[in-house]
Amino acid sequence: MSKELIRLMGCSMAFDDELVLDNINLYINDSEFLTLLGPSGCGKTTTLRIIGGFTTPTAGEVLFDGVRMNDIPPHLRQVNTVFQRYALFPHLNVFENVAFGLRIPKTVEETNAAGKPVKRKVKLPESEIRERVLEMLSVVSLKGFENRRITELSGGQQQRVAIARALVNRPKVLLLDEPLGALDLRLRKDMQSELKRIQQQMGITFIYVTHDQEEALAMSDTIVVMDQGKIQQIGRPEDIYNEPKNAFVADFIGESNILDGVMHEDYVVEFFNRKFKCLDKGFAPMEPVDVVIRPEDVDIVPVDKGQLKGTVTAVTFKGVHYDTIVDFKGYKWLIQTTDFHDVGETIGIVLNPDDIHIMHKSAYSGMFGDYSSYSEEYDEIGDVTLLDEEDEEEAGHAE
Ligand SMILES: Nc1ncnc2c1ncn2[C@@H]1O[C@H](COP(=O)(O)OP(=O)(O)OP(=O)(O)O)[C@@H](O)[C@H]1O
Ligand SMILES: [Mg+2]
Repeated sequence: MSKELIRLMGCSMAFDDELVLDNINLYINDSEFLTLLGPSGCGKTTTLRIIGGFTTPTAGEVLFDGVRMNDIPPHLRQVNTVFQRYALFPHLNVFENVAFGLRIPKTVEETNAAGKPVKRKVKLPESEIRERVLEMLSVVSLKGFENRRITELSGGQQQRVAIARALVNRPKVLLLDEPLGALDLRLRKDMQSELKRIQQQMGITFIYVTHDQEEALAMSDTIVVMDQGKIQQIGRPEDIYNEPKNAFVADFIGESNILDGVMHEDYVVEFFNRKFKCLDKGFAPMEPVDVVIRPEDVDIVPVDKGQLKGTVTAVTFKGVHYDTIVDFKGYKWLIQTTDFHDVGETIGIVLNPDDIHIMHKSAYSGMFGDYSSYSEEYDEIGDVTLLDEEDEEEAGHAE
């Protein structure tokens, strides 16, 4: 069973009276890979800086192993950080970059012959430094690169040097702030599995910041979804994806069609004037709800077999599937299908109970999950209610 390592209790942060973190409550287990995920400006870096000790929260407590750490500086918390700009030393080779932290003498307290406490600076022996640096270079797959100059490395290799440099001190926790941001997509994917491997191999707790939902889903044990300084949801990747708590999470993690519905009773929801079976329960009778339907969950069938029928208004080839926009009574859905259905075609769809996910209404209701702006040229011919400009911007964000 993993044990709790770090806890943020009611942490808030204000800059010049502007609240940028609002009552953050969160715990992180030993050896966990936890990701802070959210759009730019939502407070991810600020949260990381509070954990690292670079910032003191204006309210709340930071606990490590149950002990209050609010005022403890970074070097006294068993934490190391890989920043987005990973500032390697260009004049030092790979070996010396990684060895850097190990060469700094440590102060130890001892008792002298007279029984008095004395402080002594201790240097690690060269042989141990060499052993640890080489071990770490092998962990990040850079064996044989010791004498290379930093300028002779690719972006991904430099990134791995930065990670080796942070890990060589054997921190209990590694904080990583968008560490793969500068890399191209292919390299990012390679580094994602590399990082996950390193984290598991070394059993270190990783707290990882990204705004890339795919990256978060691929790497994390736990995802913390943030928006506007607040935690929107905490959960395993599968839970966050399959059971988003509100329209923001549903939209931010993957694509979602989000519709207005009414929960008639347990397991029965109505939308488009039709009742559907679902797996959700515990809502008030006739409670207005947000209904999420993932684009890949919709089955396309012949019109006469469909629960709903709609007209294809746009098709985009995406490699594995087609992004197909379908107009249902003026509301446009995104459907992902491997079968091609041409613009103008009328299709039927079937929704199984587990294709439908029900959420309580929230401040985000109505802001996401409509794909009208995908195919504006068809708006005139359908019986679509046109969105006003502001709504259209929100809907655009859903892409
Ligand atoms: N030192 C500061 N002084 C004033 N405002 C700040 C300071 N640091 C952060 N902020 C503000 O706090 C908010 C959250 O910033 P933060 O850096 O945590 O966001 P983020 O989620 O990491 O975003 P990004 O993905 O763009 O890095 C932003 O509105 C930012 O402008
Ligand atoms: Mg940031």
